[in-house]
Amino acid sequence: MNREQISRIAHVEHPIKSPLDDDSVHRLLQRGLPRGDERVLDLGCGGGEWLLRALATRPHLHAEGVDVSADALAQAAAAALDRGVQDRLVLHHQKAEDFVSAEPFDVVLSFGATHAFEGLLPTLAAARKHLAPGGRVLVGEGFWDRPPSPEAVEMLGNFTDLATTVDRVVADGWTPVDGHVSTRRELDDYEWACWGSLASWALDHPADVDSAHALETATTRRSEWLRGYRDTWGFVSLVLRPTPGRA
Ligand SMILES: C[S@@+](CC[C@H](N)C(=O)[O-])C[C@H]1O[C@@H](n2cnc3c(N)ncnc32)[C@H](O)[C@@H]1O
Repeated sequence: MNREQISRIAHVEHPIKSPLDDDSVHRLLQRGLPRGDERVLDLGCGGGEWLLRALATRPHLHAEGVDVSADALAQAAAAALDRGVQDRLVLHHQKAEDFVSAEPFDVVLSFGATHAFEGLLPTLAAARKHLAPGGRVLVGEGFWDRPPSPEAVEMLGNFTDLATTVDRVVADGWTPVDGHVSTRRELDDYEWACWGSLASWALDHPADVDSAHALETATTRRSEWLRGYRDTWGFVSLVLRPTPGRA
């Protein structure tokens, strides 16, 4: 069982692959897409859940998603067909950092994918290149809520605290016009959903050749979360507009 198969099963109950509940996603989309007829780009779109939700509730919206995972994009395409939004969604199978478009976008999203650009600021720099005048960026990023252990840094990467994270974004020429800090409940629900879904799959498929590996992975990842980063890691979502004069 490869990473993509594990990710697909782990996210069955939580198709948004970030620690955000449905109300938070809805509210962030409302703040990011005030008109409803925007052109939206998602860098690292995965199964496309952000775009699918935006398209399903806004009949004049057009969206494009970029991801390196063929498996996730196939899932996005199938879900678009199911929800009747396939005519307004274009999916690109390529590295987000290599994506170019002839036309700019009103909104650029990137959630849980800043590692693809090696950090938040390079992700914002990439988003800026795609942004039309007056556009917005919606980005989700981890931060350290308390000083992390070296093991937590090793597992999740090198973040800063929340205030420093926002300061760096502002210093980089962005103005936050809204934001959301994932609650303890959202953070916990996400982890329980991921490792619970994977464990359930293993228990439901005892004869599958991958069953033992799936159960072991669920156990390891749940323990890494509880012992390694539950008390130190947080997740912030920002709605950003370029600060005038700072392009
Ligand atoms: C945690 S998932 C987030 C998916 C989606 N944004 C969401 O919130 O549901 C991270 C995604 O980034 C994608 N990814 C990783 N590196 C990438 C790259 N260099 N270019 C494009 N996508 C990348 C992965 O394939 C994965 O689908």
